[in-house]
Amino acid sequence: MISDSAIAAMIATERERFVAANPKSAALGQAAARHWHRGVPFHWMLDWGTPFPLFADRAQGAELWDVDGHRYDDLCLGDTGSMFGHSPAPVAAAIARQASRGLTYMLPTEDAVVVADALAERFKLPFWQVTSSASEANRAVIRWCRGITGRDKVLVFNGCYHGAVDDVFVDLRDGVPELRKSLVGQVYDVRQHTVVIEFNDLAALEAALAKGDVACVLAEPAMTNVGMVMPQPGYLEALRLACTRQGTLLVWDETHTISTGYGGHTATYGPLPDLFVLGKPVAGGVPCAVFGFTAEVAARMEQCREQGEKGHSGIGTTLSANALALAAMRACLTEVMTPQAYAHMLPLAEELAAKTKDVIEGRGLNWHVTHVGSRGEFICDPVPARNGTEARAKMRGDLEHALHLFLINRGVLIAPFHNMTLVSPATTTSQVDRLAEVLDDCLKILIG
Ligand SMILES: Cc1ncc(COP(=O)(O)O)c(C=O)c1O
Repeated sequence: MISDSAIAAMIATERERFVAANPKSAALGQAAARHWHRGVPFHWMLDWGTPFPLFADRAQGAELWDVDGHRYDDLCLGDTGSMFGHSPAPVAAAIARQASRGLTYMLPTEDAVVVADALAERFKLPFWQVTSSASEANRAVIRWCRGITGRDKVLVFNGCYHGAVDDVFVDLRDGVPELRKSLVGQVYDVRQHTVVIEFNDLAALEAALAKGDVACVLAEPAMTNVGMVMPQPGYLEALRLACTRQGTLLVWDETHTISTGYGGHTATYGPLPDLFVLGKPVAGGVPCAVFGFTAEVAARMEQCREQGEKGHSGIGTTLSANALALAAMRACLTEVMTPQAYAHMLPLAEELAAKTKDVIEGRGLNWHVTHVGSRGEFICDPVPARNGTEARAKMRGDLEHALHLFLINRGVLIAPFHNMTLVSPATTTSQVDRLAEVLDDCLKILIG
């Protein structure tokens, strides 16, 4: 119903419109290209598909302004880093307070005590550690799991993303494990130590774990990085049981699914993991992540350290758990990521899903809309995917590119990859209405 030529025409028109509307971003882009590789301080900033990067001026709550003075309804929210709004007042105040008191000392602060209590209360795991990113937390967790089980393999699900963690960059293509082709400069064949199977495939899981060599399963309880793939009823519980039975540790990476509700997917639906990872929004956008674990895992970690030689464990970096991150995390956990915040986000996300669905159906398209709490996604296909292979097959790169450009040019930001939206405590009904309105205008033109 939407032709390739309509998509190409929209991309061309919207690129021209973007160029005309953003002279200051264009000039900054040229200046930045003098010394930033590919013109940006980090290459992800090119993922938006705009002719040149949009330069941000400032953001507050769920709004962002660019250097040319345009205002945006921000439903991307830094791809989750600002899921609880840009610069929430308590986090901004905590950062300001800490700024003149020293930023990093390699010593704990009083904030650390409050943070650990808050994490344990919310996520039901007694012991915690802090890293600077979710990628780093996942790398630490994999290392610990291998260390304490004495097993070398990690099991992940096809289509997963857990950050810059080479061990899990393995895809299933036609049932065959392959090193992800986009991975740069990896000379080790990580497939020797990584098992990849499809999500929701219990038989494959049981067969893989039965070999007794899998240290941990690292998973999102609902996959969010290959479009969205929901667990089928009973699957997560069966996964939990299979791990326990085989002596494999279960790790939930809730970096994205923290959108589900207070305490994330785990506290909302269970089951409890052995280890738990949360990054991105946990300190309101200050680089920071945490991993938690059971008392049993903690005891095994102690044992592992006692048995090994003293020295660097390969886990952690100098700035991990610095004073600034702890101050920001304390404010974020205790004053921002509250049950009240979710009480606003969850119903508004339902509303967003319903309104997006109405627009899509109103235009005669049979796409589907799905959401994990405040994290939503519309997928250009009628049937929800059950696994990574199905989800990949549903991606419509050019169509998504056209849509994103159209939205940006009308002051609406959604994530630059697939069609992900986030509702924050600061997001309003009128912002949701505006997304629906602009999406409708876009589809009308595309359908012709
Ligand atoms: C589920 C999940 N885990 C971990 C990460 C890594 O986060 P970071 O890039 O902040 O290290 C991501 C990033 O998108 C993610 O989606």
